[in-house]
Amino acid sequence: MNLRALAAKVVFQVLEKGISLSVALPDQQRHLESGKDKALLAELSYGVMRHLPQLDKQVSDCISKPLKGKQRIVHQLLLVGCYQLYFTRIPSHAAISETAEACRQLKFEGMVKVVNGVLRNIQRQEKPLSTDNDTLAHNTPAWIIKRLKAAYPDNWQHVIEQSHQRPPMWLRNNQQSQTRDEYLTALTDANVEATAGSSNDAILLTSPRDVMQLPGFETGAASVQDGAAQWAATLLAPQGEERVLDACAAPGGKTCHLLELAPNIKLVAVDNDAKRLERVQQNLDRLSLEAELIHGDAANIDSWWQGDKFDRILLDAPCSATGVIRRHPDIKWLRKNNDIEELASLQSQIFDHCWQWLKPGGTLLYATCSILPQENKDQVSAFLQRTPDATLVPITQQANPSDIGWQILPGQENMDGFYYARLVKD
Ligand SMILES: C[S@@+](CC[C@H](N)C(=O)[O-])C[C@H]1O[C@@H](n2cnc3c(N)ncnc32)[C@H](O)[C@@H]1O
Repeated sequence: MNLRALAAKVVFQVLEKGISLSVALPDQQRHLESGKDKALLAELSYGVMRHLPQLDKQVSDCISKPLKGKQRIVHQLLLVGCYQLYFTRIPSHAAISETAEACRQLKFEGMVKVVNGVLRNIQRQEKPLSTDNDTLAHNTPAWIIKRLKAAYPDNWQHVIEQSHQRPPMWLRNNQQSQTRDEYLTALTDANVEATAGSSNDAILLTSPRDVMQLPGFETGAASVQDGAAQWAATLLAPQGEERVLDACAAPGGKTCHLLELAPNIKLVAVDNDAKRLERVQQNLDRLSLEAELIHGDAANIDSWWQGDKFDRILLDAPCSATGVIRRHPDIKWLRKNNDIEELASLQSQIFDHCWQWLKPGGTLLYATCSILPQENKDQVSAFLQRTPDATLVPITQQANPSDIGWQILPGQENMDGFYYARLVKD
């Protein structure tokens, strides 16, 4: 099937069915043979997600009657067409004819002329994309803008701008295989340009690569993980044969890092999503690591754990993922304003419950990939208020030692947006 038709299907799956881009895209990429075509499909799908309000406005302004019901996919195809005209170097005549052909393949023969006409109109008018309101100017829903304005009154625009950048590719060196310097040398020898990041194992690639081009990837010499996410294991700092709980573990990036840092710990990795838990096992297998995997609820540990309390707990809580919009632009359209209060309530339940399973003197690291205070500093602040045996231990990297936790903003040192707070039990 024509690549534009596949792109329209991806956009349709995300916007109409609420399926995430990371599931919908690979599902359609399967139908393409060449790496180049797969990359173009990704570019068109991600591009539409990044610029949705502006593309939507342009298309809606050029169409006489809104496309509804079954015809919605033709609207999504027009977004794909419009994206090509504004944001790619594909010659307009090719973009338009390929998109019209896609309409035929999607079995909307009768609308081929409409698609052709709308796209030709957009091309002829050469109208700049609208910036008439905040949503259009920032390609971000109003509720996110409102929350970011409140949280970051001086730099909310910068935060949004960074959330629209193309994210770099980060690697995590496997300390059990070689030192980071040795791996950097191996990368240079393989003609892969890279630099060291601020945490111990982090490596930033100058440009993204297929993992199969990375030396020793298949045998576990390195893993793909953002620089911000790599701080989790370092900040929790597991030691010797400690008992460690990874409370929301899937797909297991941090689980594996904890074991690479301290291979003798007894690690219990839990997630309430059985399918995602399978990915933890796959990641452990590639790196030849072992952990006890449990399909269970981190807000009800008593129901699946009869063993000792834990020396350290990583609580990488389910969250809005507003810190990783640059990697997952569909988050802007899949998340809703009401989700934030619901997530905050779930986070506090899991937080309270995990705390009961921490030994006195033990450390809990609370983490999210959110940039909203409700899920981060407000959450930890409320926890400290209701938990007399909890003490916050400042993180050296915090801008201000008196801050509640360390908020990393998207783009800071090229990293994703992330939040960490480290607590010790009396
Ligand atoms: C931010 S992700 C974890 C990412 C993971 N730590 C990593 O580094 O690969 C949050 C995870 O929490 C899981 N989750 C959500 N609610 C949960 C609950 N009540 N108990 C256990 N896991 C839960 C989700 O399935 C999701 O996999």
